[in-house]
Amino acid sequence: MTDKTSNQMWGGRFAAGPDAIMEAINASIGFDQRMAAQDIAGSRAHAAMLAATGIVSDSDAEAMREGLLTVLSEIEGGSFNFSTALEDIHMNVEARLKEMIGEPAGRLHTGRSRNDQVATDFKLWVRDQLDAVDGALQALMKALLTQAEGGADWVMPGFTHLQTAQPVTWGHHMMAYVEMFGRDLSRIRDARARMNECPLGAAALAGTSFPIDRDMTANDLGFDRPAANSLDAVSDRDFALEFLSAASICAMHLSRMAEELVIWSSAQFRFVTLSDRFSTGSSIMPQKKNPDAAELIRAKIGRIFGANVALMTVMKGLPLAYSKDMQEDKEQVFDAADNLMLALAAMEGMVRDMSANRESLEAAAGSGFSTATDLADWLVRVAGMPFREAHHVTGSLVAMAEKDGIDLPDLSLEQMQSVHSAITDDIFAVLGVHNSVASRVSYGGTAPVQVRAQIARWKKVLV
Ligand code: ARG
Repeated sequence: MTDKTSNQMWGGRFAAGPDAIMEAINASIGFDQRMAAQDIAGSRAHAAMLAATGIVSDSDAEAMREGLLTVLSEIEGGSFNFSTALEDIHMNVEARLKEMIGEPAGRLHTGRSRNDQVATDFKLWVRDQLDAVDGALQALMKALLTQAEGGADWVMPGFTHLQTAQPVTWGHHMMAYVEMFGRDLSRIRDARARMNECPLGAAALAGTSFPIDRDMTANDLGFDRPAANSLDAVSDRDFALEFLSAASICAMHLSRMAEELVIWSSAQFRFVTLSDRFSTGSSIMPQKKNPDAAELIRAKIGRIFGANVALMTVMKGLPLAYSKDMQEDKEQVFDAADNLMLALAAMEGMVRDMSANRESLEAAAGSGFSTATDLADWLVRVAGMPFREAHHVTGSLVAMAEKDGIDLPDLSLEQMQSVHSAITDDIFAVLGVHNSVASRVSYGGTAPVQVRAQIARWKKVLV
């Protein structure tokens, strides 16, 4: 006889129940209840397969499948009583099914184990998240496209080292982020295609002697095929790691953009005005409008990177096949997914609602000798100078303007000719920021014609 307090699922060989501390460190129900819908979908597919292969009777399978739906409605309705003693979502669901339908519930676990069950549930959960992130990324990219279209030919300073470099267009800058988030989208889709193999039926680690049909369950659950090696199937968490690494890169992009919004919305820059809906005020300084959403996006990457490192660390020393260490996969992924989705939604909202200040952008575009390269290029093109010499001549002109506290277009022709006699009146045309950006027509360049071509290409992708 076993002690009444030992576990009803695996207590057969145990004389006593677990210590309270053991229960606390062992239980995952506090967090894995988030996979209830996936667990029940997996069990329903398994039950249908057990009947189709003659392993259980049709009536037993029907009772299981119906009962599982009732369990799900109890969980969704909030009336389900989760028990820590039952460790995890798998055993909580099965125990409740037993209370409801009796003996047939005991047959559900035929030909499977919690090891393939949890791998399947978690994959289904991660797959749903990949789809959610896919949608959120597309929404953000569309908001960026709208911004790009509205200001395809607005000029602004382009920076390197956060020092004025050359004028660029607002549309070009917005489209740079579209490219970045476009790569995130493609990483998410790659991960989804690669992970879509079903672990169910790998059982504990070695497969099973029951005549199960793994193609049937894989197909039922929307997987492309069953995972090919049972040892790998139960011990693989690459899909979670791929999600976390794609999420980390995406979060890094979000953070860079957030950083720009923080800088751009400052009184010193005034490049953008963030909407009231995505800003906060100060309790002491009445004039303040703070870009808190951008700051929090910038900060949240920490936990997403952290989740990636944490799970890599959990996995790195594990021998095949399953080890309980792997139970630590879920909280990291849940937290990263929640925060990534929140950050994506907040960024989309900010981008959708923000207005770019065309005048401030244009005024800044011309400052800092931003068209010095255009001047040097003109010396090469028109005066036939080697680029290195043109660079030197332009440098002298910049120094002259800087000494007088003026910009390059404000130098007189005489002043310019005192540096180099080849300079003519035509030079002034290339010193204007609009001409500067319009001239950069190379593929992928900042000229409005190129930016509009980029926008048109992405619009076809993001229908
Ligand atoms: N709660 C466990 C997890 O999340 C389920 C698998 C337990 N398997 C086992 N052999 N103890 O990983």
